[in-house]
Amino acid sequence: MSSGADGETSSLGAARTLAEHLARRIRALGPLTVETYMTEVLTNPRHGYYVTQQPFGQNGDFITAPEVSQMFGELIGAWMADTWTRMGRPSGVHMVEIGPGRGVLMRDLLRAASTVQGFRDAATVHLVDVSPALQLVQRRALAESGWNIRWHTSFADVPSRGPLLMIANELFDALPIRQFVRTRAGWCERLIDVAPRGAQSEDGPGDALRFVLTRGPSPASALIPASVRETAPLESVAEVSPASISLATAIGARVAVEGGGALIIDYGNTEFGARDTLQAVLRHQSHPVLDAPGTADICAHVDFAMVAQAAHAAGARVWGPRTQGEFLRTIGIAERATVLSRVATPEQRDEITAALNRLVGSHAMGGLFKVVALTHRDLDDVAGFQ
Ligand SMILES: C[S@@+](CC[C@H](N)C(=O)[O-])C[C@H]1O[C@@H](n2cnc3c(N)ncnc32)[C@H](O)[C@@H]1O
Repeated sequence: MSSGADGETSSLGAARTLAEHLARRIRALGPLTVETYMTEVLTNPRHGYYVTQQPFGQNGDFITAPEVSQMFGELIGAWMADTWTRMGRPSGVHMVEIGPGRGVLMRDLLRAASTVQGFRDAATVHLVDVSPALQLVQRRALAESGWNIRWHTSFADVPSRGPLLMIANELFDALPIRQFVRTRAGWCERLIDVAPRGAQSEDGPGDALRFVLTRGPSPASALIPASVRETAPLESVAEVSPASISLATAIGARVAVEGGGALIIDYGNTEFGARDTLQAVLRHQSHPVLDAPGTADICAHVDFAMVAQAAHAAGARVWGPRTQGEFLRTIGIAERATVLSRVATPEQRDEITAALNRLVGSHAMGGLFKVVALTHRDLDDVAGFQ
């Protein structure tokens, strides 16, 4: 997704910060779409957030479900092994995680999956991540897993033949979106420009960014679902993620043709709608989206309706969305917590209970996060969606 950024960096000269690089790029080539801005902020090869920062955990910017508790990855591993059994225990399976972060989910997943007889011999593991820095962290985390693991920078590089078992947790929210605003003239696209010199603070870096709109309606607004495009009130902001649509299409086509099952877990909306969900997060706090790009995480809510529609159109069977809490309860997280608690100290028991509440609580991750499964059409049942 960051293709071209290197070339632009070199043709515009090396910039000290991403803000400086983006300002030079805008002055030379014109305002950026939100999609290009997000891509640069997250994955610019020199200054991108996932290239330069250590975002995970209490001392980072956010905590993901596998970082909350080992139970999360273990249950995903159990789900994969169960889906494999329902598929008739085929060989030559590709077990894939896209966006594996620090490799914690995959470590717990592989430990659980290893206990299922025959599964290890049937599967090879593929980790897909755009960040060379995080790939290195994942290699260290999984060095002693004993599984045959291969790394890729794109899902397209995963071998194309053979059934797929896939997980993407908190990946789709990092895939770039385009934003459109309904004006009296029609749907204009939201762009990012350099603020005029007079409008910049005197002690600022001199490269402040601001949102602007295309001069007239944008033909790209045809991407907005018709139900939203035709009915949203003036000033509404609509979002579309072409990268999410194309990845959901690729995953859907893959399970439809080669068989398998894929889980997509993220926070987001289950119905089409017009909302501005672009946000930045720094040290667990909300951060202005255009300030100090590359130093804070930037993401948007996942449009599960669009993801489901794309995968369905590609031939997959779509299960859900349902909440993460419902999904994890149905596949046995409470039972797993009980087993872990039996051999835990009192402090560890409290931690297990707190983690369980966080992962399944309806006012916590359990309610905010949604789960969708994509499978081959012939799979007439899949765990977690009964
Ligand atoms: C928020 S982290 C989620 C990490 C992990 N799944 C977890 O639950 O802890 C997002 C991950 O996706 C990776 N990533 C971001 N954009 C990507 C893309 N287009 N393709 C593959 N990986 C990507 C990041 O480098 C990072 O590892």
